[in-house]
Amino acid sequence: MKNIMLVFGTRPEAIKMCPLVIELRGRKEANVCVCVTGQHKSMLKQVLDAFSIKPDYDLSIMKEKQTLFDITVSIINEIRVVLEKERPDVVLVHGDTSTAFACALACFYMQIPVGHVEAGLRTYDIYSPFPEEFNRQAIGIIATYHFAPTEKARENLKNEGKQPSTIFVTGNTGIDALKTTVRGDYSHELLKWASGSRLILLTSHRRENLGEPMRQIFRAVKRITKTHPDVKVIYPVHLNPLVREIAGSVFEGEERIRLIEPLDVIDFHNFLARATIILTDSGGIQEEAPSLGKPVLVLRKSTERPEGVESGALMLVGIEEERIYDCVSNLLEDRELYARMSSAGNPYGDGKASRRIADIILGKN
Ligand code: UD1
Ligand code: UDP
Repeated sequence: MKNIMLVFGTRPEAIKMCPLVIELRGRKEANVCVCVTGQHKSMLKQVLDAFSIKPDYDLSIMKEKQTLFDITVSIINEIRVVLEKERPDVVLVHGDTSTAFACALACFYMQIPVGHVEAGLRTYDIYSPFPEEFNRQAIGIIATYHFAPTEKARENLKNEGKQPSTIFVTGNTGIDALKTTVRGDYSHELLKWASGSRLILLTSHRRENLGEPMRQIFRAVKRITKTHPDVKVIYPVHLNPLVREIAGSVFEGEERIRLIEPLDVIDFHNFLARATIILTDSGGIQEEAPSLGKPVLVLRKSTERPEGVESGALMLVGIEEERIYDCVSNLLEDRELYARMSSAGNPYGDGKASRRIADIILGKN
């Protein structure tokens, strides 16, 4: 019997770790413990409810407008107690959040092996995304197992000198989640509001975009609705009050732009499946949209998901109003470009990543 602890704390980690929790809980050789840090509160609960997962521990560390110091210090202190009590054989963390970094560091201090799910993504620009690029590189130093979603991620890890025998290409568990959520018969009031129009689904929350870059992004989107009367925009606004202030001020009074509360993951995936274009600075959405055949314009200076850019499903458009406006207009007007981007395919996995990771941890591969 292997004692396996999974630790996560934000919405995207939860979406990508819940399929693994379910897979491991179905294995008789695994004794599974789920610890959530509560770095996110309601956005985390939405995911746990959608997957019907009850955590064994909830550190409940979230504060309004929390700083990186708040998150890191609280988690390191609180998780120590849980690790001392449970003494897991291995701890699984995901991706690049402060939850994942602080938990990996605590494990390192206690010499508990760490498995890194979604390992090897890199921009090699430590400030973009911030602080995530640092977090994932740091976790990479600590981890015993590196579960890389793609060959490119494996190459990054190999080039950094990780032992090839510790790196496993598994696909991304986010695609596992997506396979369970999208339904042909899905309907929603807001999709009825958007029917007959071309729907742009927008999300933006990155720390490095807060302030002027986010204002520029939103102004570009507003201009698009002025020049394209058949376009409507739905924007589920992240609960970060700094994001909400900017979104509220730029979009106030715009009839064809709906600012809504964060959607639960089942709703969001079905909205993705029905949108015309996705505009986002999110990481996970860059992986999900291509498997639904939706073009993504990435609102960032760099991306750690170059596979989608190379395949043609993603276009890196940056954070300047003029360029974003031009790229969205172009994609709305150029049918060939639209057809190319939406048929580029999905390089991020086949929906079986959790199974592979469970096999590796339990020594069955
Ligand atoms: C975090 C991750 C980021 C990830 C994002 C996913 C870090 C450093 N950043 O950023 O990598 O892309 O989550 O969304 O780990 N809030 C609520 N309720 C919630 C969630 C958030 O009120 O359920 C508000 C709080 O005021 C909180 C703020 O949002 O202080 C920001 O949350 P935080 O986790 O610090 O940063 P994110 O930008 O969400
Ligand atoms: N998502 C969601 N509801 C929303 C917006 C996004 O469930 O209203 C999901 C989305 O499908 C993806 C994940 O949240 O799986 C992405 O999270 P986010 O953009 O917050 O973080 P990132 O991926 O950038 O770390």
